[in-house]
Amino acid sequence: MRELKRLWTWRTKADSQTANVELKGDLPAHIAIIMDGNGRWANRRGLPRIAGHRAGMTTVREVIRACDDLGIQILTLYAFSTENWKRPEFEVEYLMRLPEEFFRSEMDELALRGVRVRFIGDTTKLPEYTQETVRRSLERTRDNQGMIVNFALNYGGRADVVQAVQKYAEEVAAGRSSWAQFDEPALSAHLSTGSTHDPDLVIRTSGEMRLSNFLIWQAAYAELWFTDVLWPDFRRETLIEAIQDYGRRKRRFGGLK
Ligand code: IPE
Ligand code: IPE
Ligand code: MG
Repeated sequence: MRELKRLWTWRTKADSQTANVELKGDLPAHIAIIMDGNGRWANRRGLPRIAGHRAGMTTVREVIRACDDLGIQILTLYAFSTENWKRPEFEVEYLMRLPEEFFRSEMDELALRGVRVRFIGDTTKLPEYTQETVRRSLERTRDNQGMIVNFALNYGGRADVVQAVQKYAEEVAAGRSSWAQFDEPALSAHLSTGSTHDPDLVIRTSGEMRLSNFLIWQAAYAELWFTDVLWPDFRRETLIEAIQDYGRRKRRFGGLK
């Protein structure tokens, strides 16, 4: 774990001024975010829910930039859950078209930053046009060496555990693995997050205090951070606040400090 006592400097988009912030304590290697509250953000403005999803996309851009500037290694964003199919068809279709638009406008900058885009969840059930975007963005960022950004699309923690066990069972049937060797690291390795570092910090916006089936296995020892801020209103400063709080937490993992 890296001890962090550095002075971070960045340029703010709005006024091109340089802002300084001192982050004390450990920096989370992996931040996972449940981006919630788009609908309520729109409702409060008398706008349709999809206007909230559009505004939320701007926040995604800002948060990726901020995480990269701060030296976060992995960012996982919950964009669409296995339960979100229950929403009206119109809203689901709108959400499914957003990745295409997002990557069209952001790919150049992501490439410049060396970001590796990945997807978790069952992307084979997404509409063909969304799958095309998934394929293209994976392809375009495959050789990058920078921060990993995981987009959770049609992701459910329980479904992830089930598919991991199924995959393992197939390996056993093929004689490549054995049940005697099936343990926690083996299950972890077969999840859609693979052997990547578990999330250190899980952030949820909009005041809801639940995981909603997000990374239920991987977040077993994550620090949880909740804010009433709605996702479209979430800013770099909100992220810094979360990271600073994280730096003050004592992680014991069941032991004694
Ligand atoms: C989060 O915002 C985005 C997705 C779940 C896709 P919501 O759409 O859940 O917004 P609220 O919770 O209704 O305000
Ligand atoms: C969780 O938010 C899913 C995403 C952010 C993609 P929801 O708005 O779907 O969760 P619930 O229904 O409030 O639990
Ligand atoms: Mg919600």
